[in-house]
Amino acid sequence: MSADSYSCANSGGEGHHFGDVRESFKIMATTSDSEEEVKLVYLVHLTMTSNGNCKYSCATATETLEWIRASIDFINPYSFFWESHVVNFLTHELWKAVDKEWIDCLRKEPVEYLVQIPSGFVQDHWPSSLKKFITTSSSLAFPREQADLEKVLPNMQVALLNAVITQGMNPKKKHEIEALAGVVSSVARDVETNTVIDVGAGQGYLAQVLSFEYQLSVIAVDSSSHHGTITHTRAQRIKKHYDARKHKSRHAERFAC
Ligand SMILES: C[S@@+](CC[C@H](N)C(=O)[O-])C[C@H]1O[C@@H](n2cnc3c(N)ncnc32)[C@H](O)[C@@H]1O
Repeated sequence: MSADSYSCANSGGEGHHFGDVRESFKIMATTSDSEEEVKLVYLVHLTMTSNGNCKYSCATATETLEWIRASIDFINPYSFFWESHVVNFLTHELWKAVDKEWIDCLRKEPVEYLVQIPSGFVQDHWPSSLKKFITTSSSLAFPREQADLEKVLPNMQVALLNAVITQGMNPKKKHEIEALAGVVSSVARDVETNTVIDVGAGQGYLAQVLSFEYQLSVIAVDSSSHHGTITHTRAQRIKKHYDARKHKSRHAERFAC
């Protein structure tokens, strides 16, 4: 059931090769027998607790879109930075593209001021364009406080993950996936959908937990076809485990009757 509803897609236009796996994994987007309306689950649907400088909210889809658009408008002029590998900052002398007035100012500032920039602190004597950049950036950032999930999602249940599905995850990743999968499945239940699209699914850690543990129908999309291949190999291994588990519990049920 869960494995049948797991699918993976590649958005990189590299011509994807799901080959054999197509047999066992239904591509949701092409199923014609499903009457169910495919709804997007807004992963950031939860109302963010307001904090310091953040002036946006994800309370509704419209507000979420507003936040996304404002973020895009903000980062677009700096594509020469975020489209480059960090090493290129040195090899391509990217600092030369930074506003000279900013550099002239910041190079004279004490470290105590510089380390406060990510928290949105500016100094009065800094160029106004620099102050604007820092405060806008800060107003777009996600709040850092931990949400009280029991309050926001009182019906949330978190499945503890077994060693097979967490293979390859370090303890931090496991913790994140465990919590996030609980949140997504709870939101999915609230909005009465069974289908989730995971954009930027990487090697499918979250997508597979949602599919195998929470029985959600997942479309996993990633721009890297390499990740798609790894995801499928991993999914096949996990599917074997869940199939065996299902078989065992059916057998036990029959034996009990
Ligand atoms: C941090 S990883 C995702 C981790 C994953 N969600 C998990 O559960 O482990 C981010 C992924 O986003 C993908 N990505 C980045 N830009 C993308 C885009 N424009 N479209 C689709 N995937 C993208 C990258 O290839 C990368 O695999």
